[in-house]
Amino acid sequence: MSYIVAATGNQHKLEEYARLLADQDIEVKSLNDYPNYPEPEENGSSFKENASIKAAAASKYCAVPAFADDSGLEVEALDGRPGIYSSRYAPTDAERIAKLLKELEGKENRRARFVCVIAIAFNGEVIETFEGEVTGTILLEPRGENGFGYDPVFQPDGFDKSFAELTGEEKNRISHRANAYAKALEFIEDELAVLGGGF
Ligand code: IMP
Repeated sequence: MSYIVAATGNQHKLEEYARLLADQDIEVKSLNDYPNYPEPEENGSSFKENASIKAAAASKYCAVPAFADDSGLEVEALDGRPGIYSSRYAPTDAERIAKLLKELEGKENRRARFVCVIAIAFNGEVIETFEGEVTGTILLEPRGENGFGYDPVFQPDGFDKSFAELTGEEKNRISHRANAYAKALEFIEDELAVLGGGF
């Protein structure tokens, strides 16, 4: 059994990662297993920089390989906002969605994409980063109860349902996180034992 630390305390993300890693002989720990972990400041200017900051800090503190993701929603008509500020756009999910819909009022172009960058680090050094995306449109009003964040207003291309109307399994087949993860998986499988995760 190898270990890897998912550098997040976000329960929704942990559930998605546990599902994605279900078939692997890898135990995923999280920052909840390290209650005194001093979270680094996420002061990067891109998803890649923020994911790297989180993965590097966690791998150093926990002394096992770590991965972190940074993700967000980029809306074309808003020049890519909220982007890296997706979680800080407004205080709650409901307020973030309301603000987004308000900003898009009267705009014809509702194209958007979720982006996720996964960084893998060991001993405080980032080894690789992987990017995934899913494109779609922003709905006129929220639909569905599943998922989190902007899921109720994001309809992925090729579907007539919002992310929040899809089951966890359905979302995981196409999500930006699953996408980035698929690229990272092979690397994790091949490299984890070499990096010292297997003890
Ligand atoms: P971070 O990656 O934890 O810094 O935050 C990303 C933010 O982007 C989340 O708090 C959500 O607001 C949004 N986000 C990222 N991925 C998703 C998703 O799969 N569904 C809905 N919102 C998401």
